[in-house]
Amino acid sequence: MERALKRTHDCGQLRAEHIDQTVVVNGWVDRIRDHGELIFINLRDRTGVIQIVTNATMSGVSELRSEFVLSVRGPIRHRAEGAENPNMPTGQVELDAHAVVVLNTCKTLPFPVSDERQMESVNEELRVKYRYIDLRRPTMYNKLDLRHKAVKLIRDFLCARDFLEVETPIMTKATPEGARDYVVPYRLQPGKFYALPQSPQQYKQLLMVGGVERYFQIARCFRDEAQRADRQPEFTQLDLEMSFIEQEDILVLMEELTTTLIRELCPKQMPTPWPRLSYRDSMARFGTDKPDLRFGLELCEIGDMFGNTEFNAFRSVLDSGGIIKAVRYPGGASLSRKDTDALAEFCKQFGAKGMAHFNYTAEGLAGGIAKFVPESVAAEVQRRMGCETSDMVCVIADTELVANEVLARLRNEIGVRTGLADPNVLSFCWVLDFPLVLWNEEEKRWDSSHHPFTMPFEEDLPLLETDPGNVRAQCYDVVCNGVEWASGSIRIHRTDIQSRVFDLLGVDKATQRSQFGHILDAFEYGAPPHGGIAPGIDRLIMFMLGEDNIREVMAFPKIGGGYDPMMDSPAEIPQQSWEELGLALRPVNEKNI
Ligand code: AMO
Repeated sequence: MERALKRTHDCGQLRAEHIDQTVVVNGWVDRIRDHGELIFINLRDRTGVIQIVTNATMSGVSELRSEFVLSVRGPIRHRAEGAENPNMPTGQVELDAHAVVVLNTCKTLPFPVSDERQMESVNEELRVKYRYIDLRRPTMYNKLDLRHKAVKLIRDFLCARDFLEVETPIMTKATPEGARDYVVPYRLQPGKFYALPQSPQQYKQLLMVGGVERYFQIARCFRDEAQRADRQPEFTQLDLEMSFIEQEDILVLMEELTTTLIRELCPKQMPTPWPRLSYRDSMARFGTDKPDLRFGLELCEIGDMFGNTEFNAFRSVLDSGGIIKAVRYPGGASLSRKDTDALAEFCKQFGAKGMAHFNYTAEGLAGGIAKFVPESVAAEVQRRMGCETSDMVCVIADTELVANEVLARLRNEIGVRTGLADPNVLSFCWVLDFPLVLWNEEEKRWDSSHHPFTMPFEEDLPLLETDPGNVRAQCYDVVCNGVEWASGSIRIHRTDIQSRVFDLLGVDKATQRSQFGHILDAFEYGAPPHGGIAPGIDRLIMFMLGEDNIREVMAFPKIGGGYDPMMDSPAEIPQQSWEELGLALRPVNEKNI
């Protein structure tokens, strides 16, 4: 670059105090306004935009287009009276261009970088394909900036508390976290594969056996699982682990760390201390272990009140061991028939056979199944659920599983519709005392409710073989606004207990040795008691920014089907690689796709 045009200032930094100083700025052409003799260019770098004034006769200026890369030299002037722009931080001044050097040109853009309103209609795949252009938008840069600041704060916070940051391998062996593994074939041992870690779970436990005592890592994790708005095939966790601690130590540390993060980086309100709910309590009151506590609207079982009901739909569900459970919809009595039907359809999407309802109105109980609800029951429901005139009660009669699933979704939907789910509030809570295992009806076996390394309650250990469904686990989740943010546990650190848990999960002894021999062995060499947790970094940034889509907070996300349209990956590999790896493609079983 020509020496005279080496950058002296950032675009967004220029103010009245720079008036009469000659500066050099670099950046991209955000916008050009042609006023005949004078041409105004908004030049943008990552710090902001400065207005440049040039003369149409200046060489090359007439060829400038959006996103050309420029270096501009000239003095800073006060803008003419009336031309100041109070909406721009640099709006008092402009740069009077004496020299303009084009550092690079730009083809016609696939979408307009400088117009946020037009960006709303741009297809996401196109944005991800041209992510390097999308990232030039200040909104995107600010997201990366926030993420960077959050990670830095986490590092500083944990370093100040004597944690050691350790990197663990990416090429490793399967670590079960409930998803499928991504695998990497190895040329020198045909038929053998590394697995990419679903989390550094086993390594962090082995670091504890190694005497590290306080570990953390900003860890990349890989999971081949169905994508959702808050899930990516590769994502980042703050992974941490401590030795010689109890559950309470982790709970206190996490709450302190999060309070610092939100206070320093996010204008939203975060109620503290975080409420603590047991798994059972959470399921009973909210139908889910991921309750949104920004609002009440607790679910209520009302089956007992309908004990002698003649209403067949309820009678048969109760007789077959099901439950009648309800949620209040504030102001729902004014919904039209069409809206109520749509709400019932919403419930059906999640497995309900239908949704019954009745309304509290100034004229008494009305609508839906009101005529089957005796006055005494209406009064008791009103008392239990705190119903007011104009509220609707939505009722699901089904198995406990379905009723909870549907009502949890319905409750969230009502929270959003009524504005009770305040977007300016981050409502964190702890969910504790999960069952160690859950029955998998399809495969007729017990699955870990978290992962197999979770320590049961000491007093429940005798139940491992006799009543596994009632063994409680020393594990804890953090939930924020109805989304799981972090998960952790006190771990098993004894070979005998670990082996009993594997037995319970149906992992035969040979597989225990081949898959987990390293950890079973390690526990016999002085493993300290330990525990930890892992909050998702991507989800943290989603919460802070109020983003519904995880891709918005990642520099280079995958779109549906794990596809990266920018790199066009996953991609085929050359024939030679197949041969070197000793691999051949076979038809894939449809059910695995
Ligand atoms: P878990 O599997 O619950 O626990 O993951 C912890 C947190 O990681 C985030 N997360 C994800 N974020 C984006 N995309 C995904 N596909 C995805 N999967 C998980 C979530 C989640 O709460 N080893 C244990 C932790 C421990 O016990 O210490 C683990 O990985 O925010």
